[in-house]
Amino acid sequence: METVLSGIRPTGHLHIGNYFGAVKNFIKLQENYNSYFFIADFHSLTTHPTPKDLHDNVKNVLAEYLACGLDPEKATIYIQSDVPEIPEMYLLFNMNAYIGELERTTTFKEKVRKQPDNVNAGLLTYPVLMATDILIHRAQKVPVGKDQEQNLEMARKFAKRFNHMYGVDLFPEPQAFNFGEQLVKVPGLDGSGKMGKSEGNAIYLIDEPKVIEKKVMRAVTDSGPTQKNQEKPEPIQNLFTLMSIVSDKETYDFFNEKYNNCEIRYGDMKKQLANDIIAFTLPFREKILEIAADHDYLHKVVTMGAEKARASASKTLQEVRKAVGFRKF
Ligand code: TYM
Repeated sequence: METVLSGIRPTGHLHIGNYFGAVKNFIKLQENYNSYFFIADFHSLTTHPTPKDLHDNVKNVLAEYLACGLDPEKATIYIQSDVPEIPEMYLLFNMNAYIGELERTTTFKEKVRKQPDNVNAGLLTYPVLMATDILIHRAQKVPVGKDQEQNLEMARKFAKRFNHMYGVDLFPEPQAFNFGEQLVKVPGLDGSGKMGKSEGNAIYLIDEPKVIEKKVMRAVTDSGPTQKNQEKPEPIQNLFTLMSIVSDKETYDFFNEKYNNCEIRYGDMKKQLANDIIAFTLPFREKILEIAADHDYLHKVVTMGAEKARASASKTLQEVRKAVGFRKF
C-alpha cells in the first residue's frame, strides 16, 4: 500500500484555503492509503510564537483536523515535536543541503522580504525539515495546495541526492498529489494572491457566521464590467473562484452570466457567497467546539499518533544511520 503524508503549520486556525487545498482529500486518503497527517510545530517556530500561542494553535489545528473527519484509527495523526527521530534526520539531511539552493527558493526569498528582522537559519533550512517530514515515512504522495510545489521539488532533490551519495535505494521521490487533478490555490478576499494566515485575508472554519459575512462583504471589488464578456480583473476573478469552490454550479453560472451581461451587482453576489460559505462551515464549527473541549480524547489521539509515527520514523532513521556509516562498537 502506498504511503501519503501531509502537514500544516499551527500558526492559527484552519482556513478554507487549507481545507480545499489539502484537508478535504485527507478523508479519502485515510481510507485507501497508509496515511500520516501531522501538525508541523517545529516549522512554526520560525516566526517565534509565544509558548502559549504555540500550544493553543496546536490544539486548535488538532481539533479542526479531527472535525474535518480524520480518524485516528485509520490514519496516523501526530504532532511533529513528539517524534524525536525527525530532528535527528533533519540534522543529517542538512549536511547535504547547499546554502545556494536554499537561498534561491521562492518561499525563502519571500520571507526575507516580509520579515527582514528575523531571517533565521530555520527559515533557510525549512525545505530540509519538510523533506525530512516526508522522507522519514518514505511517503510517495503528498496532498498539498499549489503553494507547496517547490518544497516538494526540493524533497525529491534531497531524496535522490541521498540515494545517490550513499548508493542506496532508500527514498522514493515524493509527488504532490490531488487525485489526478491540478493542485488548488484558493484566493484570498483582499483582491490578490492566495488565502493565507499571514496574509490576514482568510476565512476560518471556526469563524462565526457574522464574521464570515463581514469578511466577504468587505472583499475587494471594482466599479463593474463595462463591456460584455470582458475578462475579469484579479479581485473579481478571485470572488468567482471562491464561488466555484463553495457554491453550486447554478449559482456560479447565474452570477457569471450577470457579469458577462454587465448586470452584476457585487453586493448580491457577496451576500450569496457569504451564505454559501456559512452553510459550508457551520457543521465544522459545531464539531470543532465539541472536540476541542474533549481533552481526554485529544490526549489519546496524539499519544497513539506519536507511537505509530515513531515506529515508522525509527525504521527509516536506522537505515539512514547505517547508510551514512554510524556503526556500533
Ligand atoms: P501551510 O500550513 O501553509 O498549509 C497547510 C496546507 O494547506 C495548503 N494551503 C492552501 N491550499 C490552497 N489554497 C490556499 N490558499 C492554501 N493555503 C494553504 C498548503 O498547500 C498545505 O497543503 N510547509 C507546509 C507544512 C508542512 C508540510 C510538511 C506539508 C511541513 N512539513 C510535509 C506537507 C508535507 C506549510 O507551511 O503548509
